[in-house]
Amino acid sequence: MAGMRAVRLLLSSLLFALMIAAARDSVSNHGDDDGATLLAFKAGITSGRSSGPLSSWNSSTSFCSWEGVTCGGSSGRVVALDLSSRGLAGTLLAAIGNLTSLQTLNLSFNWFHGSIPASLGHLRRLHTLDLSDNSLSGMLPDNMSLCTGMTALVLGSNKLGGLIPSSLGDTLTNLKKLSLTNNSFTGAVPASLANLSSLQHLDLSINRLDGSIPPGLGGLGSISLLDLSANGFSGTLPSSLYNLSLLTSLQVEGNALQGSIPADIGDRLPAMEKLVLSRNRFSGAIPHSVTNLSSLATLRLGWNQFSGYVPRTLGRSQDLRYLELAGNRLEADNSRGWEFMDSLANCTQLQYLALDNNSFRGQLPGSVVNLSTSLQKLFIGYNNISGEIPSDISNLAGLKVLQVANTSVSGVIPKSIGKLANLVMFFMFNNALSGLVPTSVGNLTKLNWILAYNNNLQGPIPASLGRLKDLNILDISKNRLNGSIPREIFKLSSLSIQLDLSDNSLSGPLPSEVGSLTNLNWLVLSGNQLSGKIPESISSCTVLQYLLLHNNSFEGSIPTNLKNIKGLTTISLSMNKLSGTIPDTFAGIATLKELYLAQNNLSGPIPAVLQNLTLLSVLDLSFNNLEGEVPSGASLET
Ligand SMILES: *[C@@H]1O[C@H](CO)[C@@H](O)[C@H](O)[C@H]1NC(C)=O
Ligand SMILES: *[C@@H]1O[C@H](CO)[C@@H](O)[C@H](O)[C@H]1NC(C)=O
Ligand SMILES: *[C@@H]1O[C@H](CO)[C@@H](O)[C@H](O)[C@H]1NC(C)=O
Ligand SMILES: *[C@@H]1O[C@H](CO)[C@@H](O)[C@H](O)[C@H]1NC(C)=O
Ligand SMILES: *[C@@H]1O[C@H](CO)[C@@H](O)[C@H](O)[C@H]1NC(C)=O
Ligand SMILES: *[C@@H]1O[C@H](CO)[C@@H](O)[C@H](O)[C@H]1NC(C)=O
Ligand SMILES: *[C@@H]1O[C@H](CO)[C@@H](O)[C@H](O)[C@H]1NC(C)=O
Ligand SMILES: *[C@@H]1O[C@H](CO)[C@@H](O)[C@H](O)[C@H]1NC(C)=O
Ligand SMILES: *[C@@H]1O[C@H](CO)[C@@H](O)[C@H](O)[C@H]1NC(C)=O
Ligand SMILES: *[C@@H]1O[C@H](CO)[C@@H](O)[C@H](O)[C@H]1NC(C)=O
Ligand SMILES: *[C@@H]1O[C@H](CO)[C@@H](O)[C@H](O)[C@H]1NC(C)=O
Ligand SMILES: *[C@@H]1O[C@H](CO)[C@@H](O)[C@H](O)[C@H]1NC(C)=O
Repeated sequence: MAGMRAVRLLLSSLLFALMIAAARDSVSNHGDDDGATLLAFKAGITSGRSSGPLSSWNSSTSFCSWEGVTCGGSSGRVVALDLSSRGLAGTLLAAIGNLTSLQTLNLSFNWFHGSIPASLGHLRRLHTLDLSDNSLSGMLPDNMSLCTGMTALVLGSNKLGGLIPSSLGDTLTNLKKLSLTNNSFTGAVPASLANLSSLQHLDLSINRLDGSIPPGLGGLGSISLLDLSANGFSGTLPSSLYNLSLLTSLQVEGNALQGSIPADIGDRLPAMEKLVLSRNRFSGAIPHSVTNLSSLATLRLGWNQFSGYVPRTLGRSQDLRYLELAGNRLEADNSRGWEFMDSLANCTQLQYLALDNNSFRGQLPGSVVNLSTSLQKLFIGYNNISGEIPSDISNLAGLKVLQVANTSVSGVIPKSIGKLANLVMFFMFNNALSGLVPTSVGNLTKLNWILAYNNNLQGPIPASLGRLKDLNILDISKNRLNGSIPREIFKLSSLSIQLDLSDNSLSGPLPSEVGSLTNLNWLVLSGNQLSGKIPESISSCTVLQYLLLHNNSFEGSIPTNLKNIKGLTTISLSMNKLSGTIPDTFAGIATLKELYLAQNNLSGPIPAVLQNLTLLSVLDLSFNNLEGEVPSGASLET
């Protein structure tokens, strides 16, 4: 009897306390106060995209009609504040904690700085907090853990740091989405996050977190996205993670993780769309069961220590768009290992395929030409692949980047290459390609880079290359090209980074059109049989840094106006037949570090003004007929 009364008493006093609390809530924070609170909050905003940011926030209308404000319920209080992408700058004032009916606060994509006010802990009804893409700094306030109704906490791309408060895991048990990406959080992932049993989306990528990944995360049975990329995590991926059967995206790129992929991954993560393990220390074989991941669109295993053969039926994952296996120890040779290439023909949406830097050997499989016409980037170099480039490579009409460099391919560059009209980058250096450079390359007018150095290419440089109006780099050095250099090449004012035709058998003069290369940094024509005078027009190449013309048969005098090229650091004219004197205008090239004039027929005095080149560290004047004092102060060779 006494017990009953005690319970009843307890109940009624509990009820009373609740009523008091409710009353206090509505008394101290009734609707009018919300208007005042909003204005108090506005006082922290210093600027916005419009000249008077939030000018609609004034007393001429009810605050419920103010920009970004939503009121709700019978109390007419502010339930949502959405000021995303308004260009607002300033700080978040603690006043915000007085909007106690607030359910949604979205201030993403602004310029707020300073810290996150702990008063947010007063917002017990808050379910969505998005402060992402601002410049907020400091720690995540512990008080945030008081917002127990929170379902989405999105704080990515700020400058927040310190530890992730363990208390979040103890109380925010309704969280579905937690994103702290692109901040400076440190320390370990609190084990308490394993309590967030409703979590569907956990993004802790791009921070300074370390330690091992808590195995408890494998108990978050609702999770579909887990991104831990770009941190300092070590140890193995807990095997419990492979129990997350709803996972569609698992990304741990750029950590120091090790271990192997379990053989039964294909059965345990059936929903997987995006699996990114790149740039870690994973090893072992790629299990066959990945071919059972029928929704897989992105598989990135690059830059690890995976070995063995690629599953032969990889193409069963027909949705594959992005396949990165580069930088491992994967194998294939003529007897086995290449079957996967045949099967990839079934991936009709494949856009990216990187197989470079592995231990692939044997002939380049002909089935490469059956890959998707959607393929944009193909990397197969840095292997030991031999054989020829199939003529039907032209089937891959979507290709923008073709990299078959630093491997052992031979044969000719097929004429059909001219049909790859979307090609931007063509990397074929360090191979054994022979034959002519096909004229059809001139059809590839989107090309930016051609790197085909160190092959056995022969014959003339086709004048059609002059049609490549977007070309930034042309490096076809170290081949057996002959004939004269077509004038058209020198008219390509797009050439900005490098024109390297060195170590071929090119002959004839350097045409005066060379002066059209007004954006070029490196001009390297050394090691040919070029003759005639070095045209004075070369001084129009005003951004040249490297001018390397050595080991040719140039004659006549050194151009006098090279001083017009303000940034020259290296001039090499050695091993030619240049005569006359060294122009004292050289002294005007203040940036010059290395000057090679050896093995010519230069005569007359060594200009004393060379002393004035304070950066000059190498001056080689040997084997000429020069007179006078060798300038001192640099390491000089004569
Ligand atoms: C006050 O807000 C109204 C719209 O709500 C706007 O038309 C008016 O220009 C604002 N007044 C000032 C002084 O900014
Ligand atoms: C919150 O509201 C109370 C009462 O209306 C007021 O005293 C207090 O200054 C407000 N807090 C802030 C940070 O504006
Ligand atoms: C915040 O607003 C932006 C822009 O409207 C929106 O894309 C984003 O999804 C919102 N944040 C949340 C957590 O709903
Ligand atoms: C943070 O929470 C504690 C405990 O509930 C409370 O005493 C304190 O006032 C809160 N801080 C702020 C700034 O609201
Ligand atoms: C990270 O945040 C910075 C600004 O703090 C932003 O410039 C950058 O684009 C963000 N990076 C990513 C990957 O979102
Ligand atoms: C949350 O997780 C921690 C660590 O795993 C555990 O000790 C604690 O009991 C959990 N708390 C709740 C409320 O489940
Ligand atoms: C995975 O789930 C199964 C079945 O629920 C359970 O028996 C097993 O212990 C879990 N494995 C791990 C590593 O958590
Ligand atoms: C793929 O899944 C099927 C059906 O679940 C199973 O029988 C088969 O063994 C799996 N294949 C691999 C390679 O794991
Ligand atoms: C490619 O798809 C076809 C038709 O769906 C199928 O018969 C073939 O076995 C598949 N090949 C591979 C290697 O998956
Ligand atoms: C390929 O790997 C080698 C050695 O592992 C490295 O030196 C080279 O830079 C890598 N190539 C590319 C394209 O990254
Ligand atoms: C070059 O392009 C022209 C016009 O687009 C086309 O007719 C010709 O077949 C192409 N040549 C080669 C070799 O691809
Ligand atoms: C070289 O330096 C000396 C002393 O600083 C100066 O008098 C002379 O004009 C300079 N010569 C040239 C060509 O710049």
